[in-house]
This record gives sequence, structure tokens and C-alpha cells, in this order.
Amino acid sequence: MKKLILFLSVSSVVSFSSLAFGRDLALSDKEFFKALGVPILQSHPRLNMAYGDISGVSEERLHQVTHSLGRCGGFEEMGDSLEVKSLNITKDLEKLESKLQQDKQVSKQQLKVLSAVQFRPIIKERLDEVSVENLKVNVQWLQNFGTRYHKGSRANVPVDALKEKLEAMMATSRIPYKIEKISHSRTSQNSLRLTFVGSKEPKKKVILGAHFDSIAGWFGGGDAPGADDNASGSSNLIEVARILSKYDAPERTLEFYWYAGEEGGLIGSAEIASDYESRGEEVLAVMQLDMTLYPGDGPFILGSVSDFTTPWVRDLVKELNDVYFQFQINEFECGYGCSDHASWYRRGYSTVAPFEARMNSMNRDIHTSRDRIQPSYNFEHSSAFTKMALAFAMEMDRR
Ligand code: BES
Ligand code: ZN
Repeated sequence: MKKLILFLSVSSVVSFSSLAFGRDLALSDKEFFKALGVPILQSHPRLNMAYGDISGVSEERLHQVTHSLGRCGGFEEMGDSLEVKSLNITKDLEKLESKLQQDKQVSKQQLKVLSAVQFRPIIKERLDEVSVENLKVNVQWLQNFGTRYHKGSRANVPVDALKEKLEAMMATSRIPYKIEKISHSRTSQNSLRLTFVGSKEPKKKVILGAHFDSIAGWFGGGDAPGADDNASGSSNLIEVARILSKYDAPERTLEFYWYAGEEGGLIGSAEIASDYESRGEEVLAVMQLDMTLYPGDGPFILGSVSDFTTPWVRDLVKELNDVYFQFQINEFECGYGCSDHASWYRRGYSTVAPFEARMNSMNRDIHTSRDRIQPSYNFEHSSAFTKMALAFAMEMDRR
């Protein structure tokens, strides 16, 4: 007979015997199996949950370990409502979560066991390093180029300048890194990539991206300071890189992109994403920052693009928000591939795109010579996106 036991505790253990597999399977967080010293059969790619084989572990030992991990509390027999036909941890967790949600006896706190994000003091420490002043200085520096338009003989002047800035910043870092110009076939402007090579799983990549180019005027080549669109997102990434560059390498590879030619039709990111797809690159998730400086719905009221983005990544950002920030986040549809996240999404990668406000309340001065630092722009608001990207990068290093 199949048996399902749910431990009602801070962290849940669901165990059931399955004749089909001829062994005792348990679904719990990985620490639990490590403490028991039993083999992990399958783990969830994002949550800290796994299936372990607990055959041979006595009920007494099970209780001992549960208590030693501070997860006291009773357990409840749930009957055999979960079918164990095959091991599919993602599906099984989804089923379990909806079962728990339906079950009036299970409190919200107990449901938290399936939440992806747990507070980590080290992340909080790094978040406290975000400097609003640095954002201001960098946006000012970028708008002073006059334009970062992707066409024309001066298209790479600001790109080369950013490359030099990153080189100076990384010179004192202990992280193995690369700074590369990426040329494109459809624009003469180069994209820039800064790579922090992962120390444990370098093939797994997390990507933070922002478009670096700007545009204004009938033919695109007018005065285009592009402070909000998108010196802001570009500067958010420079600040994340500055902070992380001072510490040890991440376990997984972290890539920062400043894309060329977004305003010409997502040119740089489209070429890059299709190249990744054809090389079978393993990208865990991509965050796009495009326009973070104008608080159209009010300071610290963020938007988040709901189309061409991936539900689990959007949820992860919401959970990070619950744990570290408590900003308000409103999802909205662009209705088209409005920025570089769409290039990655179209190639099958998981994406998220936080945005300065909802679409209806966004900055109306973009793509004009008026998109320069002005009183309605808010660097504290923009710093919220730096923090979100920083927390996202650190969290994705572990999932
Ligand atoms: N910063 C905008 C993107 C944007 C607009 C994001 C509205 C979210 C909401 C971007 O630089 C841009 O101008 N995109 C173009 C489309 C692109 C394919 C040329 C646009 O929205 O017209
Ligand atoms: Zn734009």
C-alpha cells in the first residue's frame, strides 16, 4: 500500500513507500538527506528539494534527524492521494503544493516550505553596498557621450570607454574574468561581455543584461543622452559587477552583457542568443534591465514584463522581493518583444525583465533629447533594480 506522510514542520518531509520502486522514497530538502547520509535520487533544479532513498533508515532515526535539524512538530497521514508512477520531482512538487493549498488544515507558514528563497545574511551584506551615488555618476558619464546610437562612425566610442572602465575595475579582482567585445553582422556597434568564471559549475551560466545603445530623432542619430533608456540599466549592471568583483568567484558562471543595437530591433541580443542556442549553452536564467530611473508609479513601485518572460523566474524575483525588499511589483504586458529578454525567450531560455513602472506610466521622454537626468528621475528608485539584480545573481548561483 502506498503511504504518504507529511511532516507539519518548518521544513517538510513527505515520505512514502513505493512498491513500484522497491525502495522507500522521501521528498524533502537536501540537508535532510545529507544529515541522514542517504543517497539523493533526484533533485529539483530550482528548489532545495530532492528525492532520497530512505530504505533501511529506522523511523526512530528519521525522527532524531528531523528534530536535530530543528524541525519538530507532528506529522499527518495524507492517504494515498499522490500517485508515484515515476520520479518527476518538478511535477510532484507542483501536485503537492496544490494539494497543500487545497488543504485548509495546512497553514500559510507551512506552505512556505516550498518557497524557493531563504534569507541569506551574505546577500543582505552585499545589498547594503549598493551606492546610489555610483549610479548617478555612471548615468551622467554615459549621457555625456551625447549619443550611443548603434549606427555611424562613433558607435563604438562609448563601448570602448566602458570596456576600459571595466578593465580598470577588474584589475584588482581575484575572480577569473574575461572582458570581450562581441561583433555583430547586422550592426557595426559591438556588444560587451564581462564574464566571472564559475569556480564549481562553470558551464552553468546566469546572465544579467542591459542594452547600451540609445536613439533619438527622425533618423535615430540625433542628440540621444538615453539616461533612462538605457544608461540606467547599464549602470545598474556596472554597480552589481563592481560589488561582486571584490569577493570570491561565484560557483556558476555569471555573465554581464551590455548589448549593441537594441534600438535597431534587438540586434545584438538576437545574434548572441541564437549563437548560444546553436552551441547548446546552458543558461539557467536571464535578467534584463531596461529603464529603471523614472518612478512612473511612485518610488519603489516596480513593473515586471509578463510577456516573453518565464513564470518561475518572475516568481523567483517576487520571492526575493518578499524576503529582502518588500517593493510593490506590478506585472504588465508589453504586447511585443520590447527589449532584449525577448531574444533569449525566443531561443528557449528563461527570462525576467523588471521595469521602472507599468507600461502606461512609463517615461514619455525616451528616444528624445530630453531623456537626460532631470528632477523626475530617481536614483534611489533605480538602486532598487541594482539590488534586485544583485540578489538574483547570488540566489541563482545556488539553485
Ligand atoms: N526601453 C525600451 C523598451 C521598453 C518599452 C521596455 C516599454 C518596456 C516597456 C526599448 O529600448 C525600446 O525602445 N524598444 C522598442 C522595441 C525594439 C524592438 C526596437 C520599442 O519599445 O519600441
Ligand atoms: Zn528604447
